[in-house]
Amino acid sequence: MSVTIQPTGIVIKSAEEIASMRRAGQVVAKMIEAVSKEIKPGVTTADLDAIAYQMCKSLGAKPGFKGYHGYPATICTSVNNEIVHGIPGKKVLKEGDIISIDVGAIVDGFNGDAARTLPVGKVSAMAEKLIKVTRESLDEGIKQARAKNRMGDIGAAIQKHAESNGFSIVREYVGHGIGRLLHEEPAVPNYGEAGKGMILPKNLPLAIEPMVNVGSWETRVLEDKWTVVTKDGSLSAHFEDTLVITDGQPEILTRL
Ligand code: MF3
Ligand code: CO
Repeated sequence: MSVTIQPTGIVIKSAEEIASMRRAGQVVAKMIEAVSKEIKPGVTTADLDAIAYQMCKSLGAKPGFKGYHGYPATICTSVNNEIVHGIPGKKVLKEGDIISIDVGAIVDGFNGDAARTLPVGKVSAMAEKLIKVTRESLDEGIKQARAKNRMGDIGAAIQKHAESNGFSIVREYVGHGIGRLLHEEPAVPNYGEAGKGMILPKNLPLAIEPMVNVGSWETRVLEDKWTVVTKDGSLSAHFEDTLVITDGQPEILTRL
C-alpha cells in the first residue's frame, strides 16, 4: 500500500466475493510464474511488463495497477536498492541484480495483489539471505493471520524475524485490506506489538507485504514520483500475498 486507503471501513466478503478473489489471486500467481521464468541477464523490465500483460489478458483479467492513481504499467519492477513501485522501462537486468516484481489483476471486479523478489543469475550471499529472510518474514506474518488474533500479532512476527536476522523493516509502506479496491482498510503494518490492534475477523481479505532492507528502514521517492528506494542505497526485498482470514491458517489466494 502506498497511496491511500479509501475510508470505506472494513469490508468482510461473502462466499461469492471470496470466490471471485480466488480467481483474481490465481491470475496473479500465473502472471508471477510467467514473469519469473523470463528473469535473466539481458532482459529489460519493460519486457517483463509485457509478459505479465499478455498473461493477464489471455486469462481474461484486467491489470490491477494500470491507471491506479495514474500508474502507467501492469507490474512494478524494483531492482536492488529500489523497494517498491519501480516503473518498468529500458532498464536491462544484469547478473547479480535482485528484482522485486509486484503484480495485480482484477477478475469480476475483485483484486489480487502479490510480490516476489528474485535473483538475476548468481547473486551475493547477502542478497540471497535478504531474499530468504523476507520470504520467511511474510510466512511468519501469515501464520499469525487468523480469526481472533490481533493485527499487531502479524506485524510483530514479521518484524521479529527480519530484525533478528540483522535487517530492517520499512515503515512508510504497509499491507492492506483488499477487495473491490486495491487498497481497503485496514492497514497491515509489518511492525508492531503482539496483542495490540484490531481483532481479525473471519472472511477478511488482506494483502500482507513486508519490505525488508539490508541497511536502515528509511525511504525516499525518486523524481518519477513512484519509485521508492532505500535512503542509504542498501538492497531491499519485498514479498506479498493476498489471503483470506479463517478460523485456522488463512487461505492464500496468490499461490498456485
Ligand atoms: N502491492 C503494491 C501496493 O499495495 C501495489 C502498488 S500498485 C501501484 O502498494 F499502482 F500503486 F503501483
Ligand atoms: Co499491496
